[in-house]
Formats: sequence, C-alpha cells, structure tokens
Amino acid sequence: MHLIQMKKRLFFTLSIIGLIVVFLTQCMDFRKAAPANEKTFAGAATCRTCHQQISDSYLQNPHQQTTHSIGIQTLGTPTPDTYSFNDHLQVKIEKQGDAMYQVAYMDGKQTTTRRIDISIGSGEKAITYGTWEGNQLKQLPLSYFKQIKGWANSPGFPQHTAYFGRIIDARCLECHSSFVDRKIIQDDPLKVKEELVSGSLVYGIDCERCHGPAGKHVEFHLDHPQEKAAKYIALYQTLTKKQKMDACAVCHGGNDMEILKSVFAFKPGDDLRSYYTNASGNTAKKAPDVHGNQSDMLAESKCFIQSKTMDCTNCHQTHENLKGNLTSYSKRCISCHATIKHTAITLKNAVVKTNCIDCHMPKQSSGVISFQQAGKTGTSAYQLRTHKIGIYH
Ligand code: HEC
Ligand code: HEC
Ligand code: HEC
Ligand code: HEC
Ligand code: HEC
Ligand code: HEC
Ligand code: HEC
Repeated sequence: MHLIQMKKRLFFTLSIIGLIVVFLTQCMDFRKAAPANEKTFAGAATCRTCHQQISDSYLQNPHQQTTHSIGIQTLGTPTPDTYSFNDHLQVKIEKQGDAMYQVAYMDGKQTTTRRIDISIGSGEKAITYGTWEGNQLKQLPLSYFKQIKGWANSPGFPQHTAYFGRIIDARCLECHSSFVDRKIIQDDPLKVKEELVSGSLVYGIDCERCHGPAGKHVEFHLDHPQEKAAKYIALYQTLTKKQKMDACAVCHGGNDMEILKSVFAFKPGDDLRSYYTNASGNTAKKAPDVHGNQSDMLAESKCFIQSKTMDCTNCHQTHENLKGNLTSYSKRCISCHATIKHTAITLKNAVVKTNCIDCHMPKQSSGVISFQQAGKTGTSAYQLRTHKIGIYH
C-alpha cells in the first residue's frame, strides 16, 4: 500500500479511537452528569467496587438467577427433549440455527414454532419460558420441573392442546426481575392492553431491588472514601419488624394481592399497604398458600407471634445460597430454643438434634399450583416448605 495512503488511514483510525475515548470517559464518569438523588439507580455492577464479597456470593443466589435471557449456551441440550400430550400431539425442544425453540408437531407435522427468549425461575423447583411477540411476552407450553427432572405442561395450561397464547405480564416480572418498562394501550374504550418494552428488561433481582435506589450512596462514598459508615441507603437494622417483613413480603406475601401501584418503586422502609389493597392485616385475604406466601404463613406461627425479633433474616441470608443445608438452618432454631421438651418417642429420632426442619416445617403441596405430566391423568403436586412452624404429627 502507498505510504501516504497508509498515513491517512492511520490518522483516520487514530482520530476515531480518540473520539471514542473522549466519548467513553464522559459516559463512564457519571458524576459529571446531573447529581444523583434518592431515586437514581447506580446499577448492580457499581456495587462490586466496594462490596466485592457480597457481590460475588450473591451471584449464586436464586434471586439473582430468577430471570435470564436464553441462548443455546444457556439452555444446553436437555434430555429427553419431547413432551407428548397424546399419541398425535408432541412438543419438542429444538435447536434451529442459532436459537432454541419449542416446536409443536401434529401427527409428525410441524404446526407452531416459537423461539425461547427468556427463562423465569432459577430451577430450584421449576423453570418456565417466554417468547417475545412484538412487545408482548408469551409463556411457552413446556416448563422444566426439577422434581421429575424433565419437561411437563406449564402449570394451569390446557391438558390436551399445546397452548402458545398465555401472556406473561409485567406483574410476573415485578417479582422475578429488577425492572421492565410497560405501556398501557387503550384502542377501544372497554379494553386495555399492556405492552412491555422488551429492551428495558433488567434480568434477575439485583441489589437495588432489595436495597432501593443507591445512586446517591455510590456518589457519596466515591467522593468520601474515608467514610466508613453507610450514607444514603436504608439501614436494615433500624427498620421495625413490620418494615423488615414488608421488604420481603413485597414478593413473598402472596400472588393474590391487588396492586395499587407498581412495586418496582418499593424500597425498604415503605409500608406494603400503600402498594397492595389486601396486604397482610386485611381480613378479606384468602388463607395463605405455601407457594409464594411465606410471609403470611410465618405470621401464623407461635415463634413469630411470641418473639419480638423474628423476621425472615433470622434464618435466611439472602446474599448466599444456603439451599438444602438443613443443619445450618436448624442452628437458627436452636439459637432461640436452647432447651426443648421433646417426649422420649421424639427423642428416639436420630436427627432430632440436627434437623428440626423436616418435622416442624414439613413440605406441603400447594393448593394453587400443580402440573401435568405426560401420560398421567391427574396433576402432580408442587411441594414447598410450610412457614407455619408448628407441631405436625
Ligand atoms: C464507593 C464505595 C461504595 C459503593 C460503590 C457502594 N457502596 Fe454500599 N457501602 C459503602 C460503605 C463504605 C458502607 C458502610 C460500610 C459497610 O457496611 O460495608 C456501605 C454500606 C452499604 C449497605 C449497608 C447499610 C447498612 O444496613 O448498614 C448497603 C445495603 C449498601 N452499602 C448497598 C450498596 C449497593 C446496593 C450498592 C450498589 C448500587 C453500593 N452499596 C455501592 C460504600 C459503597
Ligand atoms: C423482588 C421480589 C423479591 C424480593 C424483594 C424478595 N424475594 Fe425472595 N424470592 C423471590 C423470587 C422470585 C424467588 C424465586 C427465585 C427462583 O428460584 O427463581 C425467591 C426465592 C427466595 C428464597 C428461596 C431460595 C433460596 O435462596 O433459598 C428465599 C429463602 C427467599 N426468596 C427469601 C427472601 C427474603 C428473606 C427476602 C427479604 C429480605 C426476599 N426473599 C425478598 C422474589 C423476591
Ligand atoms: C433479596 C434481597 C436482597 C438482595 C437482592 C440484596 N440484599 Fe443486601 N441485604 C439484604 C438484607 C435483608 C440485609 C440485612 C441483613 C441482616 O440484617 O441480616 C442486607 C444487608 C446488606 C449489607 C450490610 C450488611 C452486610 O452483610 O455487610 C450490604 C453491604 C448489602 N446488603 C449489599 C448488597 C449488595 C451489594 C447486593 C447485590 C450484590 C445485595 N445486598 C443484594 C437483602 C438483600
Ligand atoms: C407476588 C410475587 C410473584 C408473582 C407476581 C409471580 N411470582 Fe413466581 N414466584 C414467586 C416466589 C416468591 C417464588 C419462589 C417461592 C415459592 O414458590 O413460594 C416463585 C416461584 C416461581 C417459579 C419457580 C422458580 C424455581 O426456581 O423453582 C416459577 C417458574 C415462577 N415463579 C413463574 C412465575 C410466572 C410465570 C409468573 C406470572 C404469571 C409469576 N411467577 C408471578 C413470586 C411471584
Ligand atoms: C426468634 C426466636 C425463635 C426462632 C429463631 C425460632 N423460634 Fe420457635 N418459638 C419461639 C417462641 C418465642 C415460641 C413460643 C414459646 C414457646 O413455645 O417456646 C416458639 C414456639 C415454637 C414451637 C411450638 C409451636 C406450637 O405450636 O406449640 C415449635 C415447634 C418451634 N417453636 C419450633 C421452631 C423451629 C423448628 C425453629 C427453626 C426452624 C424455630 N422454632 C425458630 C421463638 C423462636
Ligand atoms: C422427629 C421429629 C422432630 C424433630 C426432628 C424435632 N422435633 Fe421438636 N417436636 C416434635 C414433636 C412431635 C413435638 C411435640 C412434643 C413431643 O411429642 O415430643 C415437638 C415439640 C417441640 C417444641 C415445643 C415444646 C417446647 O419445648 O416448647 C419445640 C420448641 C421444638 N419441638 C423445637 C424443635 C427444635 C428446635 C428441633 C431441632 C433441634 C426439633 N424440635 C426437632 C418433633 C420433632
Ligand atoms: C425459623 C426459620 C425461618 C424463617 C424465620 C423463615 N424461613 Fe424461609 N425457610 C426456612 C427453611 C428451613 C427453609 C427450607 C430450606 C431448604 O429446604 O433448603 C426455608 C425455605 C424458604 C423458601 C423456599 C421455599 C421452599 O419450599 O423451598 C422461601 C421462598 C423462603 N423460605 C422465604 C422466606 C421468607 C420470605 C421469610 C419471611 C417471611 C422466611 N422464609 C422466614 C426457614 C425460615
């Protein structure tokens, strides 16, 4: 290549790089933008700078994993990959091109094909999938259930057809993600339609979903690295028992509540009753179900009623994954129950000193959710730990 041409090209390349550098430094130094206020979000990536250990362990927590964008790598090759509704109708999980799909076959002929775009559920018990159709998210017919290590018809879906029509609304994502923007569209006076802005979805439950917007906190501590006391962030230890409960009950207080305003705005210290009409304490509320309502279940137990200090954090450390470690959970029980009046029969049980959970918080079937397995007529139970701690015989 001619020398002048090369120089020109080099000059051009360098100028572009220069421009990019100037542009990026301005973007990255967000402090040059308008000063942060109590409503500014900083983004989970910024927390890591100062809270590295918590940020690392939180990556393993099911809250963080509860929604994902799906690609071939993330879904892998699940086996078996087919669910049979009957002898004629099957739905298959298939790789086509560079994406994964749920494909319905009627007597061997492909009828409906939908790309798997997002997953809901970390897989503790189940994962269900969504596909974008314009600005609507639709739930796919097959969900994955850990209990059977395989695919089954999505909960509540029709038994004999592969249904592709159920809408996943912003409400699901209020409990299963950090943010999604939505538009309410009213084409006809009697009908309103909700549209989600697909690019706005922030996957997983991030730090600021539980701690509230932390923009000002981050700004302050970046400017005052010598300051060791937390500023401009809710201090959990100063919250009342009800405020602590509400901070979890916003998502663990039942799925039957009527919303007054979007709970994406909820921050620690807020009163749940300004978000839901029938939040806890209202007698019109239905009997709590083990699925999704740990808050009301716990509120019915003697431990909770008779101790001033009990809330979810007595037993749960939400930055870690303690799943399945019943010995560690049992230590929390013993911290309040140093001496227990067990009868001789109970004391014969080998695990009576190390596993309080299976006897006092047994797994129970949800009354609101169950699922359909291939080739079975009835539905299978969806089991969860009851949070009504008590004596079960
Ligand atoms: C520039 C450093 C810095 C950054 C970035 C930062 N924090 Fe902090 N944060 C602190 C310091 C310092 C404390 C007080 C010492 C401690 O508790 O670790 C604190 C404490 C906290 C506390 C404890 C409050 C309490 O109850 O005592 C929370 C919660 C918190 N930060 C959340 C966040 C979140 C969420 C982010 C990201 C959006 C974040 N922080 C980013 C410096 C920072
Ligand atoms: C923004 C909604 C939201 C908030 C707030 C929330 N959770 Fe959750 N939580 C969820 C969802 C959704 C799941 C199911 C995650 C999955 O497995 O997909 C979950 C799962 C859990 C689990 C089971 C998984 C595990 O870690 O063992 C525990 C325990 C839990 N939450 C405790 C809490 C506690 C305690 C609080 C309050 C400090 C809280 N959650 C606040 C939505 C929330
Ligand atoms: C599901 C809700 C939830 C999420 C998500 C969450 N936290 Fe927390 N965090 C809490 C609760 C509850 C406490 C108070 C714990 C206690 O008192 O035992 C807390 C305490 C803290 C503290 C102060 C106490 C300590 O252990 O140092 C810091 C700092 C903190 N969180 C940072 C973060 C960061 C950073 C993230 C994201 C990586 C995050 N949190 C995600 C619920 C949450
Ligand atoms: C009020 C909050 C809330 C709403 C709304 C909600 N969920 Fe959940 N969901 C939870 C909680 C909490 C859990 C985990 C604990 C449980 O099952 O009690 C959960 C569990 C799940 C699981 C199993 C997760 C796992 O890892 O085992 C799936 C799948 C799921 N939800 C899908 C959905 C879908 C789809 C919608 C909308 C139709 C929805 N959820 C609406 C709070 C909610
Ligand atoms: C914050 C303290 C605290 C913690 C933690 C705690 N409890 Fe309790 N529990 C109490 C109090 C107070 C009572 C009521 C007085 C009594 O019976 O000792 C109680 C009562 C009970 C009862 C009697 C219930 C009845 O209906 O008669 C059982 C059983 C029990 N707890 C088991 C447990 C188990 C199992 C755990 C751990 C999963 C646990 N507790 C954790 C404070 C606690
Ligand atoms: C094999 C099942 C079993 C195990 C394991 C078990 N319990 Fe119990 N627990 C019972 C039964 C049954 C009773 C009622 C009294 C009886 O029959 O012994 C009871 C009664 C209690 C009571 C009420 C009596 C009192 O002292 O106030 C408490 C509290 C209690 N258990 C706590 C615990 C704790 C904490 C653990 C774990 C260290 C535990 N239990 C392990 C079955 C069990
Ligand atoms: C006395 C201890 C204790 C308290 C208080 C407590 N939990 Fe739990 N929780 C447990 C134990 C034990 C498990 C079972 C853990 C396991 O199987 O790995 C559990 C499981 C869960 C699960 C998973 C459900 C399942 O069936 O796997 C969720 C969600 C949860 N807790 C949320 C909460 C919330 C929200 C609060 C406050 C309203 C709370 N818990 C209070 C002990 C407690």
